[in-house]
Amino acid sequence: MIYLDNAATSFPKPPSVTAEQTRCMREYCGNPGRGSHELALRAAEKIYECREEAASLFGSNHPENTVFTMNTTIALNMAIKGLLRRGDHVLLSDMEHNAVFRPIYRLAKNGEISYDIFPTHVLDTAAKAEIICHEIEKRITPRTRMLICAHSSNICSSSLPLKEIGALCRRNRLFFVVDAAQSAGHHSIDMQQMAISALCVPGHKGLFGPQGSGILLFGEGIKAETLFEGGSGYQSLEGNMPEEAPERYEAGTLPTPAISGLCEGIRTVKKLGTERIFQHEKLLNAYLQERLLALPKITVYTPHLIGSVLLFNVNGISADQVGNELNENGICVRAGYHCAALGHATLGTPTGGAVRVSPGIYNTFSHMDALVDAVKRIIQ
Ligand code: ALA
Repeated sequence: MIYLDNAATSFPKPPSVTAEQTRCMREYCGNPGRGSHELALRAAEKIYECREEAASLFGSNHPENTVFTMNTTIALNMAIKGLLRRGDHVLLSDMEHNAVFRPIYRLAKNGEISYDIFPTHVLDTAAKAEIICHEIEKRITPRTRMLICAHSSNICSSSLPLKEIGALCRRNRLFFVVDAAQSAGHHSIDMQQMAISALCVPGHKGLFGPQGSGILLFGEGIKAETLFEGGSGYQSLEGNMPEEAPERYEAGTLPTPAISGLCEGIRTVKKLGTERIFQHEKLLNAYLQERLLALPKITVYTPHLIGSVLLFNVNGISADQVGNELNENGICVRAGYHCAALGHATLGTPTGGAVRVSPGIYNTFSHMDALVDAVKRIIQ
């Protein structure tokens, strides 16, 4: 099997991740924060270690503001619903995943909020931060309270200028919520420099952790309403959730084995460096793009943006069929709409969407050659 679907989840995981997860299950998997016995304390120590690793990777001085969630979608729902109030207006980009669009859409449908979508000019080879910021500023109203956007798209290699957008949000006193589902571990993110209010991160993609590990990092001074209530292992006699992070936001038992693996995944990212990881993926996709475009009947979307993700179609054959035939050739990619209706509409993909290739640190040029050979056979 050649795995080229790292935008969905990274695979395989570094050996240190699986080893630590197993060690946790064997040696110290008590319930963190519940009880003062040795195993509960060791589990709690590991959880705190991971909070520290995550906070330092993302430029936060507050490990206690690192909240563990099951995945990015839950982190986004917690940030969106915890920070917005009735009557608020929200801005989001035209490349958003359903993890952003659907919660906003439902709140708007219920008449609780309103929203506007700003264009990112992703098809424009000359698009710059000033153009995007101008599009945003035009849409700010007295009721605008939040700007939410994906740092990097999950369907092409576009990324938004977070530093400039963050400065704009700070000037206009907007909550700046960032979906880092595709950028965490691939690009450097500094919450303070980028003025991020809430950073929503998957553990199981670019950070190499297991599925079931997600993170919501709150910026300094940000306090949200809770979306979930329950036991926090703390202030048990109170009816209210604690006021302090992270306990305020973490109702119920945390997935200690997943978080222990994630801790090692973050250390792997730090050891390799996000820039090196990104350059590796970019080199592979640049090579792939050149070889694919030399074939007949190929459309590559956003060929001017080369990075972690490449989206293409074989003209006249549905994306689904290409995905299935690649699978029969032992190659894993994701075809269809990738839960990103807004982004696909922006890119203008046909009915059925397109085929996404997303290499990772374990892929090589020969994997790209195998993909091209399989596409050639499909075309023939
Ligand atoms: N959001 C993930 C993807 O893009 C699952 O495939």
